[in-house]
Amino acid sequence: MKEFYESEFMIETEVPQGELIISRTDLKGNIIYANDSFSYISGYHPEELIGKSHNIVRHPDMPKAVFADLWQKLNSDGKWEGIVKNLRKDKGYYWVYANISGIFKDGVLIEYKSIRTPISFKDKLRAQNKYDEIRNRDGENIRKVVYS
Ligand SMILES: Cc1cc2nc3c(=O)[nH]c(=O)nc-3n(C[C@H](O)[C@H](O)[C@H](O)COP(=O)(O)O)c2cc1C
Repeated sequence: MKEFYESEFMIETEVPQGELIISRTDLKGNIIYANDSFSYISGYHPEELIGKSHNIVRHPDMPKAVFADLWQKLNSDGKWEGIVKNLRKDKGYYWVYANISGIFKDGVLIEYKSIRTPISFKDKLRAQNKYDEIRNRDGENIRKVVYS
């Protein structure tokens, strides 16, 4: 098991109530649009986000299985929703509830969009515990806090 964690990973950016973090991707998950909230909360300039894979904000606490489920649901139902912990450019993190769905043109799926809203502290704790269990089960990295 890898020891990923340093104290720099521990600073949370809280998404303010009423904030909507919006992005659009192509069908492979490459970012083609990022709103100001996405840029501000993730700590990236919009130009650093456009053209990148959405995994640019992937946090190591997120189990692989969650994204496998996300892509399977997008392929079968065209939508997915759930809680995501994302990584900021400065290695801090932010929690969101993400609602992802397809964008259609003349009945053909052309892009995906994701609209994210804040979650409660209780939901963050619940999700953290659940994701820790899944990573543990799947033999992925575990969290280790290093004091210096
Ligand atoms: C519209 C859309 C939004 C996404 N938003 C996120 C996100 O906020 N954070 C994230 O880690 N992955 C997000 N993903 C999933 C990523 O594309 C990617 O599958 C995930 O980060 C895991 O990385 P990997 O596929 O390289 O293993 C999104 C995908 C789509 C289609």
